[in-house]
Amino acid sequence: MCGTLFNGVGGNLRRGSRRWHSIAFATAFLFAACGGEAPDEAGAPDTSEERIIVSGASGQLGGLVVEELLALGVEPSQLILVSRTPEGLEEYAQAGASTRYGDFSEPESLPAAYEGGTRMLLISISPVPDRVEWHQSAIDAAVQAGVQHIVYTSSVDVDNPSTTSAFDHRSTEEYIRASGVAWTMLRNHLYANGLVNQAANMLSEGSVVVQPDEVPTAYVAREDCAAAAASVLIGSGHENRAYDITGSELVTRSDIARIASDLTGASVEVVEGEGGDEQAPAGVMAGFDSYEVMSDAVRELTGRDPITVAELLEAHRDVLLEAVEG
Ligand SMILES: NC(=O)c1ccc[n+]([C@@H]2O[C@H](COP(=O)([O-])OP(=O)(O)OC[C@H]3O[C@@H](n4cnc5c(N)ncnc54)[C@H](OP(=O)(O)O)[C@@H]3O)[C@@H](O)[C@H]2O)c1
Repeated sequence: MCGTLFNGVGGNLRRGSRRWHSIAFATAFLFAACGGEAPDEAGAPDTSEERIIVSGASGQLGGLVVEELLALGVEPSQLILVSRTPEGLEEYAQAGASTRYGDFSEPESLPAAYEGGTRMLLISISPVPDRVEWHQSAIDAAVQAGVQHIVYTSSVDVDNPSTTSAFDHRSTEEYIRASGVAWTMLRNHLYANGLVNQAANMLSEGSVVVQPDEVPTAYVAREDCAAAAASVLIGSGHENRAYDITGSELVTRSDIARIASDLTGASVEVVEGEGGDEQAPAGVMAGFDSYEVMSDAVRELTGRDPITVAELLEAHRDVLLEAVEG
């Protein structure tokens, strides 16, 4: 089977292109899975014995990570997909993945959910009052189950003392570090995906208010967060490291308005606001300089450039045109 899998890898692909990198990485993984040594720069370890837990596998990010892992050549039987709604993961169960019920708010559900797992992607849950405690329950159960490496989807700006979100992620990171197992922190920046709706709103309003203290932000597509997570889960050398997972450009609301205009031909008037955070939509931060963080980690981990805001909006041009037409 392995011989068949390697047939055709490479072909006429341009070295350095997105597709070349994806296939090069997958090839390295497949060589490892077949017991050989990868001949290329990725230097993939033998992860064929690993069983990878994805917590929150039914969520948007979780689902993308599962798809990335499979695209990289991970066997479905290596996957332990845990969710509060495992019945929605039936297609993966049919393919050979283990799909299990697990809810952080019910610690008693977690030992069976994580049994047999060696690596785990712990996807942070949406903000709730007990968020940190629930994360801690998941970490305790993972360690008890024998997981040796926890990869956590954290957030940029974890050292900011003034936000609940930063507190939650910082506390969870500290708990993982103290657990004694290997860890990787994937500090995801604000998702770019939400900008499609923001751009559509600008187009339907015909204007946008921009704040003078808006922090230009390196938004990152959820798809790139998933690709980075999958690379870490099947890779080596990521133990006890933290990565800022960001886009490759600093973007403002004015930039989004301009891109939306260019894509649709409709005009968006840019109106200067008074400053302060009150009128800013969710995701636009004022005054948090650390939100300006931008890194090369997506490229480093996945071998491809992050999706740009223009590419993302272009992929949803139909939504933008609908907004223009009202
Ligand atoms: N960077 C950003 O801009 C940004 C924005 C929003 C959220 N986030 C964070 O990133 C995470 C993933 O984003 P997403 O887009 O995939 O969000 P999402 O689609 O809303 O998914 C929420 C995730 O949380 C899990 N979850 C919720 N409550 C849980 C519980 N009690 N026990 C176990 N798992 C629970 C869900 O798992 P199941 O449904 O499978 O059980 C699912 O994986 C979010 O949960 C949030 O912490 C980041």
